[in-house]
Amino acid sequence: MTDVVVRAVGAATTDDPAIVAAAGLLRRGEVVAFPTETVYGLGADALNPAAIERIYLAKGRPSHNPLIVHVADLAAAQALTAQWPSTATQLAERYWPGPLTIVLPKHPSVPDSVTAGLTSVALRIPSHPIALALMRASGRPLAAPSANRSEGVSPTTAEHVRTSLGDRIPLILDGGPTTVGIESTVLDLTAARPRLLRPGMLSQADLEAVIGPIDLVRSADDDAARPAPGMLDRHYATRARLVLVGSNDGDAVRQLVGSARTRGETIGAVLIDGHRVGSVDQSITLPGDPTEYARGLYAALHTLDAAGVGLILLQQPPGSAAWDGIRDRLRRAAHP
Ligand code: TXA
Ligand code: MG
Repeated sequence: MTDVVVRAVGAATTDDPAIVAAAGLLRRGEVVAFPTETVYGLGADALNPAAIERIYLAKGRPSHNPLIVHVADLAAAQALTAQWPSTATQLAERYWPGPLTIVLPKHPSVPDSVTAGLTSVALRIPSHPIALALMRASGRPLAAPSANRSEGVSPTTAEHVRTSLGDRIPLILDGGPTTVGIESTVLDLTAARPRLLRPGMLSQADLEAVIGPIDLVRSADDDAARPAPGMLDRHYATRARLVLVGSNDGDAVRQLVGSARTRGETIGAVLIDGHRVGSVDQSITLPGDPTEYARGLYAALHTLDAAGVGLILLQQPPGSAAWDGIRDRLRRAAHP
């Protein structure tokens, strides 16, 4: 495929020329990358199996990892489900549009390739005006994983998408940097008790405030025993080796840095404001507020990867609940 077209979107209305072009591609079964408030998604018509196939191909995504379906309104979400519990209504009223994905029993109209053969479907109404305009203009629900090659770091700018998928997709809608910065919180409502499958910036406590107690699913190290598809531990990986470092790890860090230097590697670091680690070649400092930290995290990882560092030292963030989603992504990115 020839090089991708990147188009800025001005007004995010259904008659914006870039939106019209993107909607046309989607209706013809093509894929289009677009911004959501969390990360950029690689979208395709969720009801067209040939279009879904293109998503898996472009990403190199294993077919056992199901996709999130994005819709523009509640009626469209309900149309894709076989059951709609009252807890879904409560959560939707409070947090949609927004960075929450809800897993529910799927309607027969949802292709098996979207759900990787599961009887459930993951749904979300994103809040980004470009995502909403695109769904309204195309008239389609959009299956959209993060717009990066499988297992890479999710994109938070159009440029990140271009670097990862530029030779594999026809169009990227550029809406500037995303604001949430990490992927949506995923909540499973198919079991008797709600289960948190993937933490995000919308916290477990935020959800429990609306629907009561939620079980936390811990992803298993053993691939075969993983409780939910896509909860593979190796995920969100940088090319560089990424090591989480705590404040008492000084000796271990000196050793790591020493052996990286012996191999001739350059070394990067992602720090939290007010902290430092020994001598590195390039360090990026992120704010100490979790909301702002999440917004900048993936761009920092993309920057260090693009700079070609061999080792990234990542300062361990606080253990409090506000950092749950961030710690989850860092733990996976640092998985050996
Ligand atoms: O913020 C986000 O969620 C972004 C934007 C583009 O919306 N999307 C995203 O998609 O992160 P992806 O494909 O990278 O992650 C989808 C997650 C995976 O962990 C997958 O296993 C889970 O959702 N998922 C999808 N369908 C599921 C289902 N039926 N049951 C359980 N988990 C499901
Ligand atoms: Mg992803």
